[in-house]
Amino acid sequence: MGGTHFAELKIDGKTFKFPIVVGTEGEKAIDISTLRKETGYVTLDPSFANTGACCSEITYVNGECGILRYRGIPIEDLAGKKLFIEVAYLLLHGNLPTEDQYKQFSILLNDHSLLHEDMRHFFDGFPRGSHPMHIMSTMINSMATFYPNVDTLSLSEDIDTTATRLISTFRTMAAFAYKKSIGEPPVYPRSDLSYCANFLNMMFDSPVKPYKIDPEIVDVMNLLLIIHADHEQNCSTTTVRTIGSAQVNLYATISAGVSALSGPLHGGANQAVIEMLKKIHSGGHSAAQFIEMAKNKNNPLKLMGFGHRVYKSYDPRAKIIKEATRRILKRLEVKDPLLDIAMELEAKALSDSYFIEKKLYPNVDFYSGILYRALGFPTNMFTVLFALGRLPGWIAHWKEMVSDDSSKIVRPRQIYTGRTLTHLE
Ligand code: SDX
Repeated sequence: MGGTHFAELKIDGKTFKFPIVVGTEGEKAIDISTLRKETGYVTLDPSFANTGACCSEITYVNGECGILRYRGIPIEDLAGKKLFIEVAYLLLHGNLPTEDQYKQFSILLNDHSLLHEDMRHFFDGFPRGSHPMHIMSTMINSMATFYPNVDTLSLSEDIDTTATRLISTFRTMAAFAYKKSIGEPPVYPRSDLSYCANFLNMMFDSPVKPYKIDPEIVDVMNLLLIIHADHEQNCSTTTVRTIGSAQVNLYATISAGVSALSGPLHGGANQAVIEMLKKIHSGGHSAAQFIEMAKNKNNPLKLMGFGHRVYKSYDPRAKIIKEATRRILKRLEVKDPLLDIAMELEAKALSDSYFIEKKLYPNVDFYSGILYRALGFPTNMFTVLFALGRLPGWIAHWKEMVSDDSSKIVRPRQIYTGRTLTHLE
């Protein structure tokens, strides 16, 4: 991706030239991969807010215009219109599956939907009340002890088998973790159900209360997983690329992605939004008081589900989820006071100069929890649902990184500011 244009850098009276790289959507970067060798300098950008870690063909996000596209296709053309496993295939292979490819993928997902029976007993070892994200990252990591590791891309058919096994087994594990947490027996996957119908059935079916599969609820589950499927170089995807660059097996790599996503500033925000809304609902603070606290620099509290490193406009995913939430709550005749509070918070924040000046808008996590609640998921499962959606995105980025012959182990530099040479007496 070399460019014919150059950036000039003048240091200590000497001028250095570095190639300009231009992406297919016009994004521009200065390729500084020879900076230290040529100048002895490194750049400093602590949270990488100005640093491109790689070139990627998977997802395009335009934060100023609120655009999100998977392999060039707008999220609006996929969410609510395609199945999650079609979009997973798109992210993993670059195109939506043909009818035959879809059939093969579905067969593979079914073949790999069972969790190894010995692994099922792992759930007995976790203390009651364990957060399912901790359980999931542990269980995914231990898959490396049960299944062959894929260390090199030369075994490409294994990559697809491993990817499919992860996408299918993660879903079974998540449902098993939930059943364990409520003291119910696990419900096994069924070969006659689609990916999302199977997940909902494993979550909510019970020997004494059969779960009735509602096609509209299955559709909204597909929409939710598609919305979360990828988001270019976010914190957890960067974690996956970093860990994967050391040639760690895919299970341990994904396990690290699950851990990164669990943070309240990242995927854990969907759970934190509900906890915030519940606090307001319980009369702790009014929406207006909450907004004032979130604006107070001396208060670490943030308006959860608001703001984004890239989106400086309304997150297109939040728009889609907000509409789906209102549609499904109406369909289920659910009156959730938290939705009214969320909409009051949004209206107040979007008309407040602090949020306007800092370009803080609702992000993907602001409404998703309200919709998950309406579908019957407990709050501590919300980030697991985010991870279930993000899984194909993580794997697609890992695959792109390992198949790039120029990729090396991630090892940034630093500027040392500690004590200078000090000999012990
Ligand atoms: C996800 O990267 C991705 O793509 C992530 C994600 C994905 O799909 O993978 O989109 C998923 O993680 C969404 C984000 C979920 N997190 C939250 O909702 C938590 C609340 N949001 C904030 O913590 C914050 O907005 C972040 C973490 C999302 C972004 O933080 P940045 O980019 O580091 O921005 P910042 O903290 O530098 O904020 C800039 C200013 C600061 O004020 P000043 O220091 O300039 O005075 O805006 C303020 C912040 O204090 N600010 C907020 C705020 N978010 C930013 N003030 C109040 N409430 C907020 N939510």
